[in-house]
Amino acid sequence: SISNMIYVSDYGFITPGENRGISSDYVKPSLVKRYLNLRFFPHGARNCYTLRSLVMGNKYLVRAAFYYGNYDGLGKPPVFDLYMGTSYWHEVSFSDAGAFNWMDIIVVAPDDYLQVCLVNKGMGNPFISGLDLRPLKNTLYPEVNATQSLVLVNSNRFHMGPTDGSVIRYPSDSHDRIWTTYNAIPNSTEISSTSVIQNNLRDVYDVPSSVMQNAATVNSSRIDFSWSPSDPSVNISSKYFFIFYFAELQNVRSNAVRQFDIIINNKTWNKQPYTPTFQVTDYFSGILHGMENYSVSLVATKNATLPPILNAMEMYLVKPITMVATDPGDARAMMAIQDDFGVIENWMGDPCTPKAFIWRGLNCSYPPAGASKIMALNLSSFGLVGAISTNFRDLKALQYLDLSSNDLSGPIPYNLLQRSQNGSLLLRVGDNANLCANGTACRSGRKKINGTLLVAIVVPIAAAFALFVIFLLLCQVLKGKAKRNTTGHEDKSALLENREFSYKELKHITNNFSQEIGKGGFGPVFLGYLENGNPVAVKVRSESSSQGGKEFLAEARHLTRIHHKNLVSLAGYCKDRNHLALVYEYMPEGNLQDHLRATSTCKPLSWEQRLQIALDAAQGLEYLHIACKPALIHRDVKSRNILLTTDLGAKIADFGLTKAFSDSETHITTEPAGTFAVITSVRRATCTALALSSWSSSRAMPRSYLLMTA
Ligand SMILES: *[C@@H]1O[C@H](CO)[C@@H](O)[C@H](O)[C@H]1NC(C)=O
Ligand SMILES: *[C@@H]1O[C@H](CO)[C@@H](O)[C@H](O)[C@H]1NC(C)=O
Ligand SMILES: *[C@@H]1O[C@H](CO)[C@@H](O)[C@H](O)[C@H]1NC(C)=O
Ligand SMILES: *[C@@H]1O[C@H](CO)[C@@H](O)[C@H](O)[C@H]1NC(C)=O
Repeated sequence: SISNMIYVSDYGFITPGENRGISSDYVKPSLVKRYLNLRFFPHGARNCYTLRSLVMGNKYLVRAAFYYGNYDGLGKPPVFDLYMGTSYWHEVSFSDAGAFNWMDIIVVAPDDYLQVCLVNKGMGNPFISGLDLRPLKNTLYPEVNATQSLVLVNSNRFHMGPTDGSVIRYPSDSHDRIWTTYNAIPNSTEISSTSVIQNNLRDVYDVPSSVMQNAATVNSSRIDFSWSPSDPSVNISSKYFFIFYFAELQNVRSNAVRQFDIIINNKTWNKQPYTPTFQVTDYFSGILHGMENYSVSLVATKNATLPPILNAMEMYLVKPITMVATDPGDARAMMAIQDDFGVIENWMGDPCTPKAFIWRGLNCSYPPAGASKIMALNLSSFGLVGAISTNFRDLKALQYLDLSSNDLSGPIPYNLLQRSQNGSLLLRVGDNANLCANGTACRSGRKKINGTLLVAIVVPIAAAFALFVIFLLLCQVLKGKAKRNTTGHEDKSALLENREFSYKELKHITNNFSQEIGKGGFGPVFLGYLENGNPVAVKVRSESSSQGGKEFLAEARHLTRIHHKNLVSLAGYCKDRNHLALVYEYMPEGNLQDHLRATSTCKPLSWEQRLQIALDAAQGLEYLHIACKPALIHRDVKSRNILLTTDLGAKIADFGLTKAFSDSETHITTEPAGTFAVITSVRRATCTALALSSWSSSRAMPRSYLLMTA
């Protein structure tokens, strides 16, 4: 393109609409690439682009460009409306099928995104050829603020250069404003300079030197011209913001005087007779309204010996920003929910406003003052798939949430359950086949399942274990006494790397320990949510626990040093006076035992899943026993201590009874030869035992697995 700018496709900024090229009759060699095709919107009254990752409160120049080019073969360009967020921007219309149209808006981003919406008003399908976004320094255009934006239509930004249609924009103008030549000053001549025209220190419009290097002047004492908005969609009350730019381009001899008054609609804008500064940009600006024609006169004063000049000017429509919009927190939550579920529907632009374009499924409050809030959300039969978005929790005013008749799976987020239980939210989740109602992750209510599986998976692991322990004991005997190990001290410091929670914090994240999700050897386990929304399992030592502080600390210590994908990891711990607790990553699918139980409501595990679980568990144990230094022995391996992730990966938990070899007097040395032997034997023992017993306990076991594990 002429400006050497790189444009990216709008893919990813908008979902609906269709792409199409313009008619070949309208393709000319001079046509810049961006106008060759367009996106049009045959469906929906409002379609919006969301420009993300902006800085809230910063200023941006947004340009929308349109070239109809008879893309639809109708030979009749549409008329539609453009909105910036919920604020009306301008009507888009065309004088003929080959007419270009572009418009700028300078706005302050009310959030970290801006939305440009095209609204069908029953006069043809809206379309767009290009959309530009340019960050502006916040000091530029001080007239633009949170309550007011400036809109530029009809190319009302002019320089006074040669009237050969030359356009100045990027890279001459670093903000890529488009400056076209103005040729409506009667009897004007042009003066120019090749010197750099500086910006005045107080200049807030940052006009490029190349724009200022030409000026219009006359062979008389006054420049007179009139300007009319020539904008059918604005009325007499529309406000215009005018900026006139001046810079002296001629090295005026000492006895010559250029001095004039700036008079617009018979009102003088300068307080004193004005003399442009040599090679420095200066401006006069103001807001006017109520006229069909604006008359501009630059009139030389009595003292003047030189005629007035004019270098450049801009005329913007002043637009108030509509303050009515959805509460920013609610709007952001809805956009996040949309991202989570990929809902297209008419979910574009502001969720609640304008009321005519409210997102399907939403009911909002429209208070006389202040932001709209989302009160009800009916997403029944929306085709939602996957886990329930945790972003619902940010809809603070929500009183009704219907998620029924979708294909949702996994637990119900804790926050929703809690609100539903305390009566502040009416929650409907019926008719979702894979949803673990009550948030307990498939732990309650069981269906009949082959009970021998418990034996099939857990026994071999335990057997492998026993084998391994025997092997180690053997090693111990053979190797004799080993050196005392000194890592005990290090463990204590490692513990400090994890987050320490106060009991109060735990109370908060578990909502006062309201949702028990299981029982460990050492007390109940509660579901909680960290500040970032991540679920955690909080294992609290009960008063009656036989396990004392020593075991607790031992478990914490072991956990802090081990990191393996098949071992549950620790998020933190609590040792607050008498309160002891461990905070783990949450395992949504609960423990293996529940999945194997005869009464489980969960789908029976497939053979692939069972095998994967066994292999995962074996790998976790292997790591614990061999890679870990000093080696650890988990002395309580059972299906209840094998926890499952959403995709049914397995992780070993409950290290309460884990025994570190380093604790014993006779530390085992792990020389290469010995380690290798142990690894091989554990893997073989585990896999072989597993495969064989699985095979014998089920007719469904395919042969290929036997081969794989043999
Ligand atoms: C300016 O106007 C005067 C008289 O009105 C005329 O003599 C002169 O030629 C004009 N100069 C130009 C550059 O048009
Ligand atoms: C929610 O949406 C479903 C499906 O569109 C509809 O059948 C049901 O009546 C709606 N519920 C309410 C309360 O509007
Ligand atoms: C939303 O409001 C409409 C009209 O007031 C009502 O018919 C509908 O049942 C409401 N839906 C929900 C989910 O509250
Ligand atoms: C959750 O379980 C309780 C009983 O444990 C039951 O009364 C309640 O209806 C359940 N809630 C849902 C949403 O299934």
